[in-house]
Amino acid sequence: MPSRRLTNSDLEKIVDTSDAWITERSGIKERRISADNEHSSDMSMAAIKKALEMAGLRPEDIDLLIIGTVTPDYRLPSTSCIVQKKLGLVNAATMDVVAACAGFLHALATADAFIKAGRFRRIVVVGVEKLTSITDYTDRNTCVLFGDGAGAAVVEPTEDERGVLGTFMKSNGNYADLLWIPDGGSINPLGNKNNGNANVYIKMNGREVFKHAVREMEKACRNVLDRSGLTTDDVTLLVPHQANIRIEEALAKRLNIPVEKVFINIAKYGNTSSASVPIALDEAYREGKIKENDIVLMTAFGGGLTWASALVKW
Ligand code: ACO
Repeated sequence: MPSRRLTNSDLEKIVDTSDAWITERSGIKERRISADNEHSSDMSMAAIKKALEMAGLRPEDIDLLIIGTVTPDYRLPSTSCIVQKKLGLVNAATMDVVAACAGFLHALATADAFIKAGRFRRIVVVGVEKLTSITDYTDRNTCVLFGDGAGAAVVEPTEDERGVLGTFMKSNGNYADLLWIPDGGSINPLGNKNNGNANVYIKMNGREVFKHAVREMEKACRNVLDRSGLTTDDVTLLVPHQANIRIEEALAKRLNIPVEKVFINIAKYGNTSSASVPIALDEAYREGKIKENDIVLMTAFGGGLTWASALVKW
């Protein structure tokens, strides 16, 4: 996580909002803001270094790097290429995945499939966002929600009866305009001389996204559980995308998972999109909330619309 904090009272000075509104409507108290010279590749590198250390691996051991992000350093090349160079992942193929808040779980599902197919053996998956670079700090509907950060995991084959039990991914492009960035793509490129008023910031219909998020994450969770022959009673810890505490509580209720079994850290970081699930997973592990053989259920939902889930026996 970047060290700089942006609190609700800081935001009260920027837009017409209040700590009470933000806390009650989202559960967020503060979020981390990356430094001007701290980009998605830098945050990815910090997270990957820790993941490699935990896995006891060296950069040259990695044969694939997949980064989920909607805030790449550049349009071209991919952030994974930049990270590959900076970290010396000399033996790795690389790719970025664009699936908004579901980016990390799309990356994990891809890694899982590649490993099960025997195509790659040691894959690093990352979720990273510098959302502050696409946040409009004059729009109180969105600017109170977003923060920056990164998380990473190493995925490799095992003969043990544990690991990734199942994954699920789904999208619905019919709702693309519920959460999008109008300008800066090939339809309205920034190089266009008539593009003085380009809108390169996130626009979101939060109320509509909310409804879809709860419904689809519930289905995604049930899908991976059913396919693994497990039920919600078997889940040790639910690690959901941290977009809004009310979404997390509503999801837990629909799944009949007690709230004590849901890992929630949104108060400290806000919504970090692709990065939120791996950051939460890491914190849960370091706090001793995940032990060997525990069943961990992860799910996320974001712009696209896209959503995903993964079930892991730790
Ligand atoms: N401070 C004070 N008032 C505000 C603020 C604010 N920061 N923002 C909005 N309001 C006002 C609105 O103007 C509205 O006023 P009105 O009734 O006079 O029009 C009122 O508060 C209620 O607004 P709603 O949008 O209905 O509030 P809601 O309860 O839905 O909460 C929120 C908004 C927090 C955005 C919620 O809808 C949400 O979390 N949605 C889901 C977001 C999400 O999951 N996004 C996906 C991931 S993001 C990604 O993919 C990058």
